[in-house]
Amino acid sequence: MEKLKVALVGTGNICHAHVGAYLRRDDVEIISCADINLDKAKAFAAKYNIPKVFNSVEELLAGSDPDFVDVCTWPAAHAVVSIAAANAGKHVLCEKPTCHNMEDALKLREAVKKNGVLFQLAVPLRYGNAAQHARKLVDDGVLGDVFYGKTAYVRQRGIPGGWFSCTKYAGGGPIIDIGVHRIDLAWFLMGCPKPISVSATASYRIGDYRDDELKEQLANGGATVSADNAWAGSFVPDYKFDVEDSACGFFRFENGASLFFETSWSFNGPESFATQIAGDKAGFTLEPFKLYTADGAELKEEEITGIEETGIFYNEIDHFINCIRTGTTPSSDIEQAVQMEAMLCGIYESAKLGKEIELKY
Ligand SMILES: NC(=O)c1ccc[n+]([C@@H]2O[C@H](COP(=O)([O-])OP(=O)(O)OC[C@H]3O[C@@H](n4cnc5c(N)ncnc54)[C@H](O)[C@@H]3O)[C@@H](O)[C@H]2O)c1
Repeated sequence: MEKLKVALVGTGNICHAHVGAYLRRDDVEIISCADINLDKAKAFAAKYNIPKVFNSVEELLAGSDPDFVDVCTWPAAHAVVSIAAANAGKHVLCEKPTCHNMEDALKLREAVKKNGVLFQLAVPLRYGNAAQHARKLVDDGVLGDVFYGKTAYVRQRGIPGGWFSCTKYAGGGPIIDIGVHRIDLAWFLMGCPKPISVSATASYRIGDYRDDELKEQLANGGATVSADNAWAGSFVPDYKFDVEDSACGFFRFENGASLFFETSWSFNGPESFATQIAGDKAGFTLEPFKLYTADGAELKEEEITGIEETGIFYNEIDHFINCIRTGTTPSSDIEQAVQMEAMLCGIYESAKLGKEIELKY
């Protein structure tokens, strides 16, 4: 089988995880990589024997000819890099969140459609084996009519280091960093109904709780890892903490279903990582994976076991590669990416305006 050629843009943390997935297969070849930090890109290329290294997506597209581009930059660069790749006729795998605002999301959709390329948003939780099994239960009608979802990704304290807490680069805080993972997962499990509105609140009360010594190190680039979170985005010289601590809200969908979410990097309450979906025949929780039914007043609770995980990053990349080879539309395609962007932007808008808002996309 002819190898598919991939080019990587943004050679930071998550790019290492993606490379780990590419290296597990022999039908893909990493032909080039690029980063605005050229030394970082060179070190990355040396580590993985990547033949060509560039300083920008434009140089990469002029100097190498991939079948698809894997966009692993910080969110502020997702749209510009993905649009450049699509305009060069390349398929695009793009890290979450899709971009920074609805205007960019719509421009990206236009570029993807105009150029007839495939786009997949990297939302790895939906590609987990248990999540896929759970969605099959929904598709097979085991839950009946699915009308409710509830999901949480709540850290008591856990701000990632680097640009993650600076709106200019990240676009927001926990909503777009970790909330998106669980909102997407629950939405996927509900069958991706069309979102029509959101009512949400966001809290900016706790702020940057990290101690002064660490803040000083973070401001000078001497340290990028927060005391309580091992995930560190790159140092950015004009760093400023200006994002929310936590948020909660409620989406309505065209089919009458609703989804409640909670997310936080700083919250005075217990940590929570839970997703629950309910229909009129049955419901399930994913963590732990249990099916809930009732026979009249008799309640039944069945644990679903024996599902082995094979790697969420491997699975999401495997899905995209199969889509490219067969010309099929990815699960988290550009239409879903735009709807997810509308849901995320809608949370911020609703929180700012203090009312339920209609989602437009
Ligand atoms: N799927 C997941 O579980 C998961 C986990 C963490 C991060 N992420 C997402 O992955 C993305 C990257 O996060 P990270 O932790 O790897 O950050 P990182 O800071 O380690 O890496 C980002 C890299 O992008 C580079 N970059 C920025 N703009 C660029 C541009 N225009 N062209 C080329 N390179 C550019 C930066 O120099 C940096 O090296 C973010 O969108 C983040 O939300 C996903």
